[in-house]
Amino acid sequence: MAITISAGWSRSHSHRVNGASSPWFGGVLAVAALFLGGITAPVNASAQDSQPSVGGFQAPVDVDTLGLPGPRQPIFYRHDIHAGQYEISCKYCHFAAEVSQEPGLPTMSTCMGCHLVIGTGNPEVDKVRTAAAEGTPPEWVRIHNLPSYVRFPHMRHVNADVQCQDCHGPVEEMPQVYQYAPLKMGWCLDCHLDREVTTDCTACHY
Ligand code: HEC
Ligand code: HEC
Ligand code: HEC
Ligand code: HEC
Ligand code: HEC
Repeated sequence: MAITISAGWSRSHSHRVNGASSPWFGGVLAVAALFLGGITAPVNASAQDSQPSVGGFQAPVDVDTLGLPGPRQPIFYRHDIHAGQYEISCKYCHFAAEVSQEPGLPTMSTCMGCHLVIGTGNPEVDKVRTAAAEGTPPEWVRIHNLPSYVRFPHMRHVNADVQCQDCHGPVEEMPQVYQYAPLKMGWCLDCHLDREVTTDCTACHY
């Protein structure tokens, strides 16, 4: 079985990073160590034998950024690499998903737990490091946005075991995130009827 190494990385490596809780620093450094383990692991016959026979998802190396759906972001952060290929849990970065109306976006120190060491020489990673060093987080373009008269409690859905992908699509395969579901009232109601959840106007409208 062949293992392809790209820029020092075993592309078929399949560590799963479970959601840790914030504050991040200790956990994140441990995560960085996990990834460094991936880099420095010797590739020899026995290491090859221990590779899982079914490889995980592999993010494409080259993508045509002009052809991607969704808004262009200030840094080309790729969910297909992080959540797909490296299987970093969604909640590792969107840590408020279970407890808040809004899942929230990760801070630069979450990124830097890994990018202090990973990605040297990649101009997009350099932007991450500069943003962290200067204390100027990137202004991510918001993709999903309900009108302000709609109440949407994320945590109620996440805790009821509705998967992120049911509403956001296969984010772990997206080089750039786009709006997958229509987010119209009919879409909400279809699922609520299906799951025997309230369709009372005041549940969703202020
Ligand atoms: C390593 C951190 C990280 C992980 C892991 C991660 N995300 Fe994200 N996510 C981000 C960042 C940064 C953004 C903002 C930039 C962007 O839109 O790509 C974002 C944006 C998003 C958005 C768009 C938010 C908006 O503006 O409407 C969705 C939806 C999302 N992530 C879902 C997921 C899901 C589902 C997973 C797991 C399959 C996941 N994310 C894993 C960091 C992460
Ligand atoms: C758990 C470790 C980890 C965390 C946390 C993490 N990354 Fe990464 N990141 C990686 C790995 C691994 C790669 C792939 C490096 C490679 O293939 O050379 C990568 C690659 C990248 C790249 C280069 C993508 C490309 O085009 O090749 C960017 C940009 C990036 N990350 C941004 C971020 C941002 C922004 C955050 C925080 C929201 C973040 N990363 C958090 C591990 C991490
Ligand atoms: C039942 C559908 C549904 C599920 C399940 C769901 N989302 Fe969302 N998500 C939405 C909607 C709708 C919005 C827009 C909310 C708004 O504008 O108030 C949104 C917005 C977001 C945002 C942008 C808001 C922010 O805080 O910046 C992120 C990030 C996100 N979702 C990530 C996730 C992740 C990660 C999961 C799984 C842990 C998840 N979502 C599960 C429907 C869903
Ligand atoms: C894929 C299925 C699904 C979709 C799509 C969905 N929901 Fe839900 N929603 C649920 C489930 C399941 C619950 C019940 C959670 C519980 O029992 O706590 C729920 C609960 C809720 C609640 C809490 C109701 C209460 O009892 O107080 C609100 C508010 C809500 N959803 C709003 C929305 C809105 C607004 C949308 C569309 C933007 C939406 N939902 C789309 C499945 C869905
Ligand atoms: C499960 C959540 C949910 C429930 C229940 C719900 N709505 Fe909505 N409603 C939404 C969402 C999301 C939007 C915004 C997206 C859209 O325009 O479809 C919306 C939009 C609207 C709008 C503005 C439509 C427009 O075209 O501008 C009206 C009016 C409305 N709802 C009335 C109601 C009434 C009346 C009820 C009760 C019979 C109700 N809604 C129940 C989720 C809900």
